[in-house]
Amino acid sequence: MTLELSLDDKVALVTGAGSGMGRAVARELAAAGARVAVCDLDGEAAAGVATEIRSAGAAAMSVVMDVASRASVHAGFDEVASAWEEPGILVTCAGIIGTTRLGALTDEEWDRVLAVNLTGTFLCVQRAVEGIGSGEGRIVTIASDTGKRGGGRIATSHYAASKGGVLAFTRSVARELAGGSIRINSICPGPTDTPMHDGLGPELRKQVTNGIPMGRFARPQELAQAVVFLVSDAASYVYGETLSVDGGVLMD
Ligand SMILES: NC(=O)c1ccc[n+]([C@@H]2O[C@H](COP(=O)([O-])OP(=O)(O)OC[C@H]3O[C@@H](n4cnc5c(N)ncnc54)[C@H](O)[C@@H]3O)[C@@H](O)[C@H]2O)c1
Repeated sequence: MTLELSLDDKVALVTGAGSGMGRAVARELAAAGARVAVCDLDGEAAAGVATEIRSAGAAAMSVVMDVASRASVHAGFDEVASAWEEPGILVTCAGIIGTTRLGALTDEEWDRVLAVNLTGTFLCVQRAVEGIGSGEGRIVTIASDTGKRGGGRIATSHYAASKGGVLAFTRSVARELAGGSIRINSICPGPTDTPMHDGLGPELRKQVTNGIPMGRFARPQELAQAVVFLVSDAASYVYGETLSVDGGVLMD
């Protein structure tokens, strides 16, 4: 039996696809044959990634979307549905990091991180499930190892809380959708080389790297390939699962 990774002609919507992991996910899904809606708050970045994908001969459209806004999420999905069809694949990569320690954490920062990372995931998954209806759907939410073990040197409590929420939310939705035609899973990336870590100094980077059994940060494509696996028929019996792609950091 061959590994079935083809996504021929399926419509995939990727949030946070203007940068880092989301960009890599959009490119890999397109390489597997999907038509990809590249969604991001940063419209210019989204347009740039859609152009890259089209230059490689695949189908892509860019959509400006703020995942923290119900109106913006619905408008973005509607735009994709009118151009192509309702997305059958959703990958929620949009996220922001929070590095402020507990004592200095303001209500505003707490609320913003939770709004983008957790509420954003809820709004997109809810809208995707509604659009898929009784059709076939595959959803991957991007959480983080910090959602399992708590924040560490880089991300702090509000970020970890948002990602723990994504994991619990994803499992709960999997239970609610049991017996249906939609598969939903989560990926927990470990430290990955994306613009999210642009401000990391060499000393901190060295400390984080020392904690990774594989001895290096992930490349965004390594996360993206795990996403392609989870949304493909190769993962037809993988359901409600959390996959850490972290070079062995957790091994749980
Ligand atoms: N890089 C890592 O080490 C790492 C580790 C674990 C988890 N993650 C998670 O992976 C996901 C992708 O992160 P990344 O490293 O590629 O970061 P990134 O900063 O490179 O990309 C994040 C993208 O999300 C977009 N975005 C931010 N707020 C948005 C909003 N309200 N609506 C729509 N788009 C918005 C940004 O414009 C950006 O393009 C995030 O959820 C992040 O928390 C990253």
